[in-house]
Amino acid sequence: MKKLYVLGTLAACFCAAALAETDRAAPSVREHDKSVFIDKLMKQMTLEEKIGQLNLVSVGPDYTKDAIMADIRAGKVGAMFNTVTRPDIRQMQVQAVEHSRLKIPLLYAYDVVHGHRTIFPINLGMASSWDLDAIALSGRISAEEASADGLNLTFSPTVDVTRDPRWGRVSETFGEDSYLTSRIAGTLIKAYQGDDLASAHSIMASFKHFALYGATEGGRDYNTVDMSPQRMFQDYLAPYKAAVEAGSGSVMVSLNAINGIPSTANRWLLKDLLRDQWGFKGLIISDHGAINELIRHGVAEDGREAAKLAIKAGVDLNMHDDLYGTQLPALLKSGEVSQQEIDDACRYVLSAKYDLGLFKDPYAFLGKPNDPPFDTNAESRLHREAAREVGRKSQVLLKNKGNLLPLEKNGTIAVIGPLAKSQRDVMGNWSAAGMTQQAVSLYQGLANAVGDKATLVYAKGANITDDASILAYLNSYDPAVEVDHRSTEDMIEEAVEVASKADVIVAAVGESQGMAHEASSRAHIDIPNNQRRLIRALKDTGKPLVLVLMNGRPLDLSWESQQADALLETWFSGTEGGNAIADVLFGDYNPSGKLPMTFPRSVGQIPIYYNHLNTGRPFNPKDPGKYTSRYFDEANGPLYPFGYGLSYTTFDLSDITLSSGTLHRNGRLKASVTLKNTGQRAGETVVQLYLRDVTASISRPIKELKNFRKVMLQPGEEEIIDFDISEEDLKFYNADLKYAAEPGAFKVYIGLDSEEVKEQQFRLL
Ligand code: BGC
Repeated sequence: MKKLYVLGTLAACFCAAALAETDRAAPSVREHDKSVFIDKLMKQMTLEEKIGQLNLVSVGPDYTKDAIMADIRAGKVGAMFNTVTRPDIRQMQVQAVEHSRLKIPLLYAYDVVHGHRTIFPINLGMASSWDLDAIALSGRISAEEASADGLNLTFSPTVDVTRDPRWGRVSETFGEDSYLTSRIAGTLIKAYQGDDLASAHSIMASFKHFALYGATEGGRDYNTVDMSPQRMFQDYLAPYKAAVEAGSGSVMVSLNAINGIPSTANRWLLKDLLRDQWGFKGLIISDHGAINELIRHGVAEDGREAAKLAIKAGVDLNMHDDLYGTQLPALLKSGEVSQQEIDDACRYVLSAKYDLGLFKDPYAFLGKPNDPPFDTNAESRLHREAAREVGRKSQVLLKNKGNLLPLEKNGTIAVIGPLAKSQRDVMGNWSAAGMTQQAVSLYQGLANAVGDKATLVYAKGANITDDASILAYLNSYDPAVEVDHRSTEDMIEEAVEVASKADVIVAAVGESQGMAHEASSRAHIDIPNNQRRLIRALKDTGKPLVLVLMNGRPLDLSWESQQADALLETWFSGTEGGNAIADVLFGDYNPSGKLPMTFPRSVGQIPIYYNHLNTGRPFNPKDPGKYTSRYFDEANGPLYPFGYGLSYTTFDLSDITLSSGTLHRNGRLKASVTLKNTGQRAGETVVQLYLRDVTASISRPIKELKNFRKVMLQPGEEEIIDFDISEEDLKFYNADLKYAAEPGAFKVYIGLDSEEVKEQQFRLL
């Protein structure tokens, strides 16, 4: 038998803190009733039926619908994944509730990641809005639409912090900052789950991927994570903890190993930390096929050992590989797995079903059997207005030379680029239940906006890439990228001809959605070369050039930022993407987004993030020196910093006033600034508060985001923005891994991005 060494000492360090944090209240009446109900049910269950509850399956070529139906009737299935329409779900639920021995309803799970039928911007885009109300709106609508289809649980939100834009899944995250990600995590979980999980309009959240998946080495998907405990607790674990505190009903375990131990077999992670210290009472789900992958990780010899490791580590629900179903009976018989371990896992599954109200009414999410046929993809089901609203709030204006933007709705506008007419890409990845035909492309959005006031002319100008092997990769599962078979030169020539007739060029360039996805890591994070050739040719026409960027990760835009007059980062902005982008381009909406992730100058700077340590030899641009922490062949800072984004108006921020120069423990300090709209248009911006612990028992980041406020001001209007600072904001995991604030000097920074900030200082006594 192999032994997995857990972070024993680390776990021990946290036990005391954990007890205080999870000082649990007496169980409520509901919890009591639930427990009585589940006890009673479990007494009637056979071993096979209990193990059946641990099986999360999906229909596929190896497991047909008929075979699944038979297994449901036999009590061998606990939950379904990837079945997303009412009729299909009802059909399966009938098998469970009317034809299985104990009539235990199934639970239906799906990846509702940034919208369900209505697709909102990708998560990195939503994070760029820094607008928690907008994010909550997307969550509520996702829950409404998903629950109306019969779904009960979403594998979302992805709260993995990441500092590596090479990783394709950055698109699913909320960026590099643990505070911003934590706030969004809590917001979305509450939005999905509502006040009552049993309501027919709520779905259970399953935050993911626990843990540290965003720190895979080299940004290569599924790769190893190796990390110091301080960094882990301070920077990476906080959003998962916030998700637990927000009451997430479930969690998905990550595919990576942490310091050599795969999460799926990581008892310290799932039991000591998540259950015992954080007090998580929800359902723990393996990622797709992850238990079986323990063999390839090299910690299990075979499926039997893999199942044993996973259940002992605390994984309740087994997605896809059914190793629990095939291995647990023998493992129990041999005494390697106890009845208690199986019962515990089964109880968590039943408990989730109880919380969702499925035992009360297994059809609650499915309407009545005789309801008129339900058109799953009906236009009337979409929430276009909300998608447009969130879509425009998620865009970030990176450059606007000579106030080229907003554009006027007149003259001739050349719309160029491989992404200009794409409906598929504008929706982004993980938009599985969204319909491509219902998405608004950039071209369509511009056409809707100008009507007959301006003329649009169009040329594709380039394929997304002309690298045949990359195109083959992108189209390996489905023909996601349409390829124009003309030569690169011919396409550019046509585009230049079209552009020459226009007053302004709007070029949609970047990545296809599949380039920023699971298993889509990139070693080069720039715009593919053939698109760059197109950009150069467009620039050479001498016409004003607006680059509308569509991409799922921070790109290296060093070169593009020199070519373009205006740069608008639109990410993949959802079903209403084209209309939302047109709103921004024509000034019907004044952009207010701010980057949730640093944009590097080159891939060699990665990892680059704003909250880094100072080092003993920090680089000072005013006095660079030789022996300082820098690259001699690249500027030190980012191209665009965390928190950055322009507006069509200008804002002025006053110096910071502090209510006192000292902070007493249990006391409060107020940091105030006056924000003024000094431009000609109404606009919103994000006022950001950062703190720095100047001297502590361990070296602390040069600044850390601790609060923010999104503020709307009319031209000439000003507002005093106050931030409260308390001891809680100063706490960190110190040299002994104790979460505490240490006395001494602190700096307060307030700015409209993480670099250009006002500064003040106080002392914690
Ligand atoms: C991904 C998860 C996802 C699951 C089900 C896995 O490959 O890592 O994020 O929820 O598939 O689609």
